[in-house]
Amino acid sequence: MAIRVGVVGIGFMGKAHIGIHARNPRAKVVAFCDTDPKKAAGDWGGGGGNIGDQSNLGVDPKALRSHRTPQDLYTDPEVDLVDICLPTYLHAANVVKALAAGKHVLCEKPLAVSLKEADLVIQAVKKAKGFMMPAHCMRFWPEWQWLKAAVAEKRFGKVLSAVFRRFGSTPVWSWGNWLLEPRLSGSALFDLHIHDIDFVRYVFGEPQAVFAVGTAGKATREGMDHVVATYLYRNPRQVVMAEGGWEADPSYGFTMRYTVVFDRATADFDLAREGKTLQLHKAGRKEPEVIKVPATNGWEQEIEYFLTCIEKGTPPKVTTAADARKSVALAHAELESIKKRKIVKL
Ligand SMILES: NC(=O)c1ccc[n+]([C@@H]2O[C@H](COP(=O)([O-])OP(=O)(O)OC[C@H]3O[C@@H](n4cnc5c(N)ncnc54)[C@H](O)[C@@H]3O)[C@@H](O)[C@H]2O)c1
Repeated sequence: MAIRVGVVGIGFMGKAHIGIHARNPRAKVVAFCDTDPKKAAGDWGGGGGNIGDQSNLGVDPKALRSHRTPQDLYTDPEVDLVDICLPTYLHAANVVKALAAGKHVLCEKPLAVSLKEADLVIQAVKKAKGFMMPAHCMRFWPEWQWLKAAVAEKRFGKVLSAVFRRFGSTPVWSWGNWLLEPRLSGSALFDLHIHDIDFVRYVFGEPQAVFAVGTAGKATREGMDHVVATYLYRNPRQVVMAEGGWEADPSYGFTMRYTVVFDRATADFDLAREGKTLQLHKAGRKEPEVIKVPATNGWEQEIEYFLTCIEKGTPPKVTTAADARKSVALAHAELESIKKRKIVKL
């Protein structure tokens, strides 16, 4: 029997997840909850986001159970998996409630902005019957999985430098503009740049220290709208850097990139380079080799992985609440570094 899914929060990400569940024969979307009366009534039009067209979801909202409150969905006996796509400041409390109701829970990144809230999730996970997985999608993005394996296997020798970049225009599309309220979203540092923070940790392990600079610019004023972070590891000759920001002009759109220089090759990923997103440059070759990866994305793969974990009865390992908390902690260390203009030891 398909895993019965209830999605909470039908915004940009909720709709993306619903489309993915709908295309996966192992899942069946049966219920949702959104407190916006229009969305609750099944009118899911409008909205924005940074990657992909979210229309044609493959489900008829009017054929699903629309719950009045998230708690009603958590106690729905015909829901196995709760997929939380709520604004970040609502993540922790809702994960705790859904786990307490005995459900499996997938929750969008970041786990929380505050470490106290992240700890509440970790406590709840320890007592829970169901599994919990934070949706750190970069760990499942095919070209990024390729990089993780290439680094782990030392396929092209040592890494000399790794630079990650993620830029977008100011997200003016969120519900009630919560994304532009640093208290609620953590601003670009916790919402956008956290993808690279988490991936840096995943591939290179925990840094010994971090140095970051950032601007509180035109998007949120008090938040961190553009961040450049350097992660310091034991090897003083290895450069690991990540840069993220959401102040670009609306005409700019969105980019995510990495360039990783190994001893014997340079890997370059650019989301915008359609059909050849991942290129490998090697000595003696005029043209870079285009690396072929499965035609899917991190969102589809993370959901596929979590469904497999649930089916097999084995808890997810690729991304866990305890691990996601470490990414939130590193974001806080970057904030401290930016404010004090100092290297922060970890
Ligand atoms: N993994 C990624 O690539 C990615 C991309 C975008 C967003 N996200 C994350 O997804 C989460 C949601 O972001 P979004 O852009 O979809 O937000 P959004 O503003 O587009 O949508 C939020 C939705 O939640 C609903 N909502 C608000 N309070 C509610 C409540 N108490 N109960 C039920 N519904 C409620 C709103 O009506 C709205 O429809 C965030 O944590 C964000 O960081 C992840």
